[in-house]
Amino acid sequence: MIVRSIADLRAAVRGWRQSGLGCALVPTMGALHEGHLALIRLAARSCDRVVVSIFVNPLQFGPHEDVNRYPRRMTADVAAALQAGAHLVFAPTVAGMFPSGHATMVHVAGLSEGLCGPHRPGHFDGMATVVTKLLLQTLPDAAFFGEKDYQQLLIVRRLVRDLDIPVRIEGMQTVREPDGLAMSSRNAYLSEQQRRIAPVLAATLGDMARRLAADGGAVAAAMADGQARLRAAGFTAIDYVEVCDAETLAPLGRVAGPARILAAAWLGDTRLIDNVAVAPSP
Ligand code: PAJ
Repeated sequence: MIVRSIADLRAAVRGWRQSGLGCALVPTMGALHEGHLALIRLAARSCDRVVVSIFVNPLQFGPHEDVNRYPRRMTADVAAALQAGAHLVFAPTVAGMFPSGHATMVHVAGLSEGLCGPHRPGHFDGMATVVTKLLLQTLPDAAFFGEKDYQQLLIVRRLVRDLDIPVRIEGMQTVREPDGLAMSSRNAYLSEQQRRIAPVLAATLGDMARRLAADGGAVAAAMADGQARLRAAGFTAIDYVEVCDAETLAPLGRVAGPARILAAAWLGDTRLIDNVAVAPSP
């Protein structure tokens, strides 16, 4: 089942509510892979009804980013979402989501400003705006997000708290390929040779995490070694490799409590992100 308008989405959710059924939302941009499907399965285990939204949100892409080449395969995505346990796919049009005259943006200060923030100006505001709209359009009991986009997950938790949106935000750990590469719709851009290099990102972060768990004072050395390893493996540019507080994302000089290592690096035209916990997440 697929609906395109906000009115039809609300009518479906209202119907479920009248029957006493709870509802979950899984927001996506489509090109669904096992990471998305695991999120949908988790939502289906936790809630009676699951809405999957598929919307390539132009507001969260910069002028030189890949909004036009972002993979789109609606028919296959709808089938895969339903198969994984979705009850409804919400696939609004750009004009339906952002009618002309749309002028309101959601900005989450602080959390949006480090890491990917400076490298993708406007990205997190565009993401926060569309997620706020999707939450208010659906009004689910819970919404599900992957730790793959860890900064995004924390921003969504913050905006829900700050705007008093009555929804539970559930995070799910990153789903990986057998060689450790975090699943991502953008992995489809990689050449065969780049695909062979890509898992070095996860391996590097994993080794950094083990080193810092044993020696919390080795942050600067671990960061330098991690960057050098990525360059040596063939990553063409590194946006950042950082060790941060797991909740505030403040950069850490030493690891004394729950921390997260986050990185963004390029293989040619493709930007990969990944992150790992140093100590068990709070
Ligand atoms: P998208 O990249 O399609 O991801 C949709 C959801 O799937 C996000 O919560 C993301 O963290 C999660 N996800 C992606 N890859 C994953 C993996 N390997 N393991 C676990 N979860 C994974 O993130 C977005 O879309 C957009 O910014 C969106 C939130 C939909 C707003 O437009």
